[in-house]
Amino acid sequence: MSQWIGTANQTYAPYAMEELRRLIEGVAFTQLAAGEVFLMSCPLEREETLQAIRQQEPIFLRHLQPVDRTIEITGNANDLEQLSDMVRNAVMTFENKRVAVHIRRTPKSGFVYSAADTKAVLDAVLEELDAEPVVQQPDVIIAIYAAVDQIYVGFGAPSEMLSDWPGGAVRFQREEGQVSRAKFKLLEAEREFGLNYAEYRNAIDIGAAPGGWTSLLLERGLRVTAIDPAELHPSLMAYPTLTYLKRNASEVKFEAGTFDLLVCDMSWSPMMMCKLVLDLEPALTQGGTAIITVKLMHRKPLQTIRDVISRLSTEFRLQKAKQLFHNREEITLYLIKK
Ligand SMILES: C[S@@+](CC[C@H](N)C(=O)[O-])C[C@H]1O[C@@H](n2cnc3c(N)ncnc32)[C@H](O)[C@@H]1O
Repeated sequence: MSQWIGTANQTYAPYAMEELRRLIEGVAFTQLAAGEVFLMSCPLEREETLQAIRQQEPIFLRHLQPVDRTIEITGNANDLEQLSDMVRNAVMTFENKRVAVHIRRTPKSGFVYSAADTKAVLDAVLEELDAEPVVQQPDVIIAIYAAVDQIYVGFGAPSEMLSDWPGGAVRFQREEGQVSRAKFKLLEAEREFGLNYAEYRNAIDIGAAPGGWTSLLLERGLRVTAIDPAELHPSLMAYPTLTYLKRNASEVKFEAGTFDLLVCDMSWSPMMMCKLVLDLEPALTQGGTAIITVKLMHRKPLQTIRDVISRLSTEFRLQKAKQLFHNREEITLYLIKK
């Protein structure tokens, strides 16, 4: 038996739960924040649960935290004392380790302390225990979720929580002159899929305007062919490594094996996207990478995703499908050309 808190992007928790139900027989759920956060009771032990999830990571499960302890909220200083004692009692887990404290809450939680105050108190306790409180690259995370009348606490490595950000909410710094917020999607994909765009040489960006993705790839030193009937941001025109084809993607053609990276963020009907990508796929080298967003247009996202993956599987091997924190009504696919 083990207990977990699962988190998905807003309104997508039902799909995360559906995927978990298919993965692990006998799981049961209680909603903690509508459409987003849920408590999962699992008949498997912690390690077995993690193994099952790693083998086939649910697309819509953004974050997972184990529940090692539950504290009844009193609404006064006693809550902080109980949290502190709990950390002290687990001294062996934290001694000489880099430890991050992640705190989240439901809006109606009876836990009255701010995340900053709670973290300050627990960081002081960690220092007493010869642990190093950190924000980035922790060895261990203390994940705290304050629900309405209970606090759920779990300790674990970042890899056990699917993310090293609180609740999997990846935050990137907005830059001066950034062309579009869409850039964050491609940045997050790089982290999530363990890629390094600088290792590629020649990219094709299908549906590139206004140019957030193209700008990131240009900054990483790639040659980029950007295709879009809409305008690219004028700041990109300064790059001699940019080729801009102001056209519909269905009107262009390239020599076989021209590109080693294909990215596509067309926010269009999934099946039309598949057709365009498959038409342009010969331009990608064998073993080349594709990063593609799939718009979830109607009520059955899991079915849409299955159909898209099946359609693309004639030419591509799926590496991972994931709804990223920066994906709205869509998910992102990471594929390798066969
Ligand atoms: C969500 S935006 C892309 C944002 C971009 N990734 C960024 O970072 O700025 C979708 C783009 O796809 C383009 N698009 C839609 N259908 C297309 C097609 N058939 N051929 C080329 N571009 C297309 C649209 O014009 C639109 O600019």
